[in-house]
This record gives sequence, C-alpha cells and structure tokens, in this order.
Amino acid sequence: MPPDSDTRALGRTGIRVLPLGVGTNKWRGADRAAVTETYRTVIGAGPCMIDTAEVYGSERVVGDCLRADPGPAVTATKFAPFPGRTSPRRLISALDGSLARLGVETIDLYYVHFPLPLYDLRVFAEGLVEAMKSGKARAVGVANFGADQMRRIADHLGRAGIPLAANQVHYSLLKRAPETNGVLDACRELDVALVAYFPLASGRLTQASDHNRSKALLALLADIARTHDASISQVALNWLLARDPRVIPIPGATKPHHAKANLGALGWRLSEAEFDAIDRSSVQRP
Ligand SMILES: NC(=O)c1ccc[n+]([C@@H]2O[C@H](COP(=O)([O-])OP(=O)(O)OC[C@H]3O[C@@H](n4cnc5c(N)ncnc54)[C@H](OP(=O)(O)O)[C@@H]3O)[C@@H](O)[C@H]2O)c1
Repeated sequence: MPPDSDTRALGRTGIRVLPLGVGTNKWRGADRAAVTETYRTVIGAGPCMIDTAEVYGSERVVGDCLRADPGPAVTATKFAPFPGRTSPRRLISALDGSLARLGVETIDLYYVHFPLPLYDLRVFAEGLVEAMKSGKARAVGVANFGADQMRRIADHLGRAGIPLAANQVHYSLLKRAPETNGVLDACRELDVALVAYFPLASGRLTQASDHNRSKALLALLADIARTHDASISQVALNWLLARDPRVIPIPGATKPHHAKANLGALGWRLSEAEFDAIDRSSVQRP
C-alpha cells in the first residue's frame, strides 16, 4: 500500500484511494483489450477508484477486469433513482444487480447518482444505511447533490453513525461551480471527499486549440506544462488536486496511454504563482 501522503481519504470512512480515480462511462463500447490494459495501468499504481454506475452499462466490463485481477482497486458504483424506484427496497435490489454484474459481494463506495427534486432524501438515506448494515457497501456517497442536500443526507446518515464519504460533482477548470455554489465548502465542513467528474472537460482540457473559447487558459496551461515537462491535461488535473486535499478527480480513459499520462499528474506540485495564474485565467462560470 502506498503511504498516506500518496493517497486521499474518502471522508471519514477510513478508506484511502489514489488521488486520481478513473471514469468508465465509455468502457462498454470501447476496445476490450485497451480497456483491460487501462485497468491494469491504474491499479498498478495503487488503490485507484474505478468509477462506474448502473446506467453506464460498464459494470460487467469492470467486473471482468476485477475477476482477472482485483488488485488494490477501490470500486464505486451508483444507484439511479428514477421516478418509481425511489424506495430503500429498490435501492437494495439495484445494488444487488450491480454487485452481480461486478462479481463482488461488497462495493467499496455506493452512491445515489442524483437527487430527485422535491423527493424526501430520508428515503435514500434509509437505503444507504441498509446497504451499509447488510455489508453490501463499505461506504456511501451522493452525486450531483447541492450543498444543502449534502448537509441533510449527511445528517440522516450521521444518526445511524455512518459518515457521508463523497459527493461526486462536475468540476474542472472550465466548470468551477463547486467553488461558488457551496459544495466545496460543504465538503470541507462535513469532511467529505469531492469526487470531480469531467475533470478534463470531456477532453477539452487536453490540448491547445485556436478554435476554443478557452484559448488563453489552454495557452497558459501549455506554457506551465513545458516548465514541468508535463502535458496540458496533467497541469489541469494537478491544479484540481492542489485546490483542496478533498478533491479526487476521476478522468475518463479508455486507452492505457491516457491513463498512464493522467497518473503523471501525481507526485509533483504547481508553484503557488502557477496555481494563482491558472486560477485567474480559468473562466469562473457558476
Ligand atoms: N456522476 C455523474 O453524474 C457523472 C456524469 C458524467 C461522468 N461521470 C464520471 O466521470 C468520468 C469522467 O467523465 P468523462 O470521461 O466523460 O470526461 P473527462 O474525464 O473530462 O474526459 C475524458 C476524455 O478525455 C480523454 N482523455 C483522458 N485522458 C487523456 C489524456 N491524458 N490525454 C488526452 N485525452 C485524454 C478520454 O479519451 P479516451 O477515452 O480515448 O481515453 C475521454 O475522451 C466518467 O467516466 C464517469 O465515470 C459522472
């Protein structure tokens, strides 16, 4: 196991993961050999969080990787609370389906994928508590929850003695809403991991472009990358990691060389001046 300084905490759960996970939402349709090698690359680096969801259709692919070599993988999947499947019983039966597709008895982190407007969060909390009590989940989290929703579900879970592990939200240098909508502050206050999806803005933060609204930011990232012998994407991920120790980006990758490149965002730091320059240049859209 890597030392604690090379990993990040999933809130107060006691689970530690590599500071970067991997997103698998495109693994289902991707080249199987490339995806398998991508998996081997990330778990070769340590306890990498492998992020899937019942709606991605990638749980079976992840399951095949785990069956071949579970290694130190930390596996996360999500319950989709579509209307009509919002009871704790539905959550547990969805979890059973995910466990079967993944071929595991316990999921390391089980999320509610999104909140339903006007829906009582207590029902989700009850389902998550049951997931923990049954031993089917080691930790529980939410995704796409606002700060107030986070506080409410953390409070419900807390009454059962269960910490909220993570809130997974859209966060990148092109989408900094968690800094202004209270989610990052709530993660600090509640000691919850902020798992950042789309950290590379679906690939827009991987290369300079003259035809991009973010031309100036990408040029700055390229300049800074050169001084660190790094790439634009590594600088973009390093910035998110430097923003707060609770942030755990999960860049999607279906190709092993992309996963390997992303791991190159670890083990070094931007200077304070570089961090600030990127901070100023990045578009702060709510
Ligand atoms: N909770 C939610 O509601 C939610 C919503 C959306 C996504 N997610 C999660 O977040 C993960 C990340 O999202 P995403 O994959 O759509 O967006 P992303 O991480 O911002 O970008 C991924 C894209 O960048 C490419 N890429 C990755 N590393 C690269 C590198 N080093 N150099 C050049 N290109 C690189 C990938 O290419 P290749 O595929 O060719 O390697 C892919 O096209 C998903 O997989 C999913 O697990 C969660």
